Amino acid sequence: MKELWDPEKILEKKREYIIPCLYHFYSRPVHLVRGEGQYLYDHQGRKYLDFFAGVSVVNAGHCHPKITRRICQQVQTLQHVCNIYLTQPMYELAERLASLTPGSIKKFFFVNSGSEANEGALLLARIATGKAEFLALKDGLLGRTHLTTSLTGLKFWRSDPFPAGGISFVPNPYCYRCPLNLSYPSCDLACAEAVIQVIETSTSGQVAALIAEPIQANGGIITPPPGYFSRVKEILDQYGALLIIDEVQTGFGRTGKWFAIQHWEVEPDILTMAKALGNGVPIGAFGARPEVADRYTRPGASTLGGNPVSMVAALATLEVLEEEGLVERAEVLGGMLKEKLMELKERHPLIGDVRGLGLMVGAELVKRDKEPAPKETDWVLEEMKDRGILLGKNGRYRNVLAFQPPLVVTREDIEEMVGHLDEVLTKVEGAL
Ligand SMILES: Cc1ncc(COP(=O)(O)O)c(C=O)c1O
Repeated sequence: MKELWDPEKILEKKREYIIPCLYHFYSRPVHLVRGEGQYLYDHQGRKYLDFFAGVSVVNAGHCHPKITRRICQQVQTLQHVCNIYLTQPMYELAERLASLTPGSIKKFFFVNSGSEANEGALLLARIATGKAEFLALKDGLLGRTHLTTSLTGLKFWRSDPFPAGGISFVPNPYCYRCPLNLSYPSCDLACAEAVIQVIETSTSGQVAALIAEPIQANGGIITPPPGYFSRVKEILDQYGALLIIDEVQTGFGRTGKWFAIQHWEVEPDILTMAKALGNGVPIGAFGARPEVADRYTRPGASTLGGNPVSMVAALATLEVLEEEGLVERAEVLGGMLKEKLMELKERHPLIGDVRGLGLMVGAELVKRDKEPAPKETDWVLEEMKDRGILLGKNGRYRNVLAFQPPLVVTREDIEEMVGHLDEVLTKVEGAL
């Protein structure tokens, strides 16, 4: 059998051969070698309960037997030809997505990642409107290409020293730290109204689209209040600008609906997706209303976009999510998870806010007067890992614990995780 390296050896190789922009979680990271359902195993066979699902990817659980079988069959039959030839799975997937996506989103283009999906959606918006400028939300993360990093509203992820122009940021619906110092509902959704002021004062008026995550994932699971997206959409319609909704992290059951924007009955003009669509295979897509999509007639092939293996993996993933009732499960178990975290918040001053929908929940850790607690967040993350539980982390100040397990997680798993978190928070608070 092949020798399994210990984490120290991997870190040495990383320092030597990997471009140093790639960070990792934990001061003492583990080497993961196997996954099954909601569990991961390290190189020594130690089991971990996964509460981050590879950053909201393996919604159907690690190495789901049905998805794995279908991938293997396809790899043995036809792996690749490029979408300049006809292969059936891409068309089956497009038809299936058209039946699941909100509003009249119906026509799709397949790519390999979330960044590429957003980049494609932005291009489509420019082609469809003949306008150049974009709006984005503060605290959003949209990808790693030149344009998507430029539209990213988090300093931590804005790595391009020469961002693209023609971009204006609007205040985000971050009620715990309202950018306008107001409170919901007496604010009358002033952050949505601010889109008007930004268009009037910071753009030429030629706005192609506003791009937004329905729940800002990397921003710290920032969940908008009811009415926010409906008002934003009304304003965009007035100015002839499109609404692009990025469901890369929120899609495919994560929030208790197929797509998070469906919580607010808003119909986007363009929708982007990736991550959980393939349950672990590289995949991305953008879809649009036919009137928007049909404007894109210039050539636009993708070498690996729409490849039969990713398409079959996605079709199998959608079947599993449906057959196993995982979308409904995310709603029910997500409610339980949030309730339990709210109970912890009552007893632990370190938890300042608990927010999110379905199995996409964040707990923002703070000290006195809402001072962000990033060091304590890292400490909690490391202690939980040492106890065999992998949590996520995000937020403008890197102080938000992210709970985004595979949707196959059980009530017992949630109870176990919350029990450990309770003890770890007590320990960390005791040392403050
Ligand atoms: C909301 C959102 N959009 C886009 C991206 C970029 O996706 P990818 O890493 O697949 O390029 C991410 C990645 O985390 C994301 O969370």
